Amino acid sequence: MNYLKEVVILLLGPYLILLCRRVSGEQISGKGVINLAHRQSKWTPLMQTSANLSDITSIRSFFEFRTLDPEGAVFYGDTKEGQDWFVLSLRDGIPEMQIGKADILVSVKGGRKLNDGAWHLLEVRSEGKFVVLEVNNNVELIVGLHSKLAEDELKGKIRLALGGMLVDKQKLFHPFEPEMDACIRGGHWLNLSTPWDADSTWEHRHCFFEIKKGSFFPGTGVAIFNTSDLPGLKTEEAGITVEIFGSWTGTTLSLQSTGFEYVLRELEGNKDVTEVQLGLKEGSESVAPPHEPATLTFTILKHSLVVNSKPELETESLDFFSMWKNGMLLTFGGVPGDSEEAKNTHYLRGCLEKILVQGQVIDLDRALYKHTAVSSHCCPTETMNELNRDTRH
Ligand SMILES: *[C@@H]1O[C@H](CO)[C@@H](O)[C@H](O)[C@H]1NC(C)=O
Ligand SMILES: *[C@@H]1O[C@H](CO)[C@@H](O)[C@H](O)[C@H]1NC(C)=O
Ligand SMILES: *[C@@H]1O[C@H](CO)[C@@H](O)[C@H](O)[C@H]1NC(C)=O
Repeated sequence: MNYLKEVVILLLGPYLILLCRRVSGEQISGKGVINLAHRQSKWTPLMQTSANLSDITSIRSFFEFRTLDPEGAVFYGDTKEGQDWFVLSLRDGIPEMQIGKADILVSVKGGRKLNDGAWHLLEVRSEGKFVVLEVNNNVELIVGLHSKLAEDELKGKIRLALGGMLVDKQKLFHPFEPEMDACIRGGHWLNLSTPWDADSTWEHRHCFFEIKKGSFFPGTGVAIFNTSDLPGLKTEEAGITVEIFGSWTGTTLSLQSTGFEYVLRELEGNKDVTEVQLGLKEGSESVAPPHEPATLTFTILKHSLVVNSKPELETESLDFFSMWKNGMLLTFGGVPGDSEEAKNTHYLRGCLEKILVQGQVIDLDRALYKHTAVSSHCCPTETMNELNRDTRH
């Protein structure tokens, strides 16, 4: 009976937590350190606030911003319930502003690259018919727009949002990938002092004290790609190559398709390489010593899988090239659908500084699924032990 109770609690646990979160609708100060990454929804802003236009005393917002991510949504504002809107984003690391007002749609990009991992002071202000972006106290972009149809009335509400938009993405003039692995601090938003409403799925996450390039896996989540979305075969002899640079332990990657599963796992201590047949599935598991800053080259040939030039699995019954083309799951950091216990012991912990598939850099923001714990564009420079301490500042 006790066992039954445990099962029920285990099953209900996650839903109860979810329910509590939904109901609570947390509020966040706009002045603190805000991590824009780790969200469940792509376009829904991490947080939003609104004010009566008649109460606005300053049409200026400024904040410090730090990222290594080249693309994503940063700051959004609108009036008239989204009829007039503004969004500041990054593309290729460069700031881009898009504005929709009456019958006008504008997109302007320019200035220096901001995705260098350093803190930058950004200021957005409205000067009559112009919107001005300053970076580190230098004017970088000015957008002027005028419409005979637009009436300038200072009535109604203004809404602000971070890390997403409150209008449909279809309204954008120049679509972009919204996910942004970035941190904001010291924000002043139109001189408002009211707290912001957090997205219902929001979870507090620290910003790493110092960051370096890479994708950080804390040991609790994975990133899954459909191989049909990744670069394909060039020549049969060369096969398909996945190269991973970094420093990590745990499951590096896994491949799955109907009736097949392959897991490549790096474990602490020197373990012999083992091959395991997984139930009825045809597949295998490799265990190799951990990599200190290292490169792993995983090559997929028509009938075999090769790790660092060493054949790991050979099978005449499978054609990996057509499986890749038709869509296998390629998962970095674990195995999709693993039990909690397996996750705790086997999920990747560490920093994948770079992932190349057929020589092309892979952006985890474009994965089919990415767990919210995974940082797509930055790794902490601090060690795991230091990370367990509070790094808010
Ligand atoms: C905005 O104004 C309306 C009435 O005009 C008022 O009911 C509402 O509380 C105000 N909201 C804020 C955030 O001040
Ligand atoms: C910002 O708000 C403070 C207090 O609410 C006020 O004293 C100050 O004048 C405001 N600044 C601007 C630029 O409106
Ligand atoms: C992967 O892509 C293929 C081809 O586009 C598609 O048929 C398949 O359903 C996709 N798999 C998943 C899990 O999305």
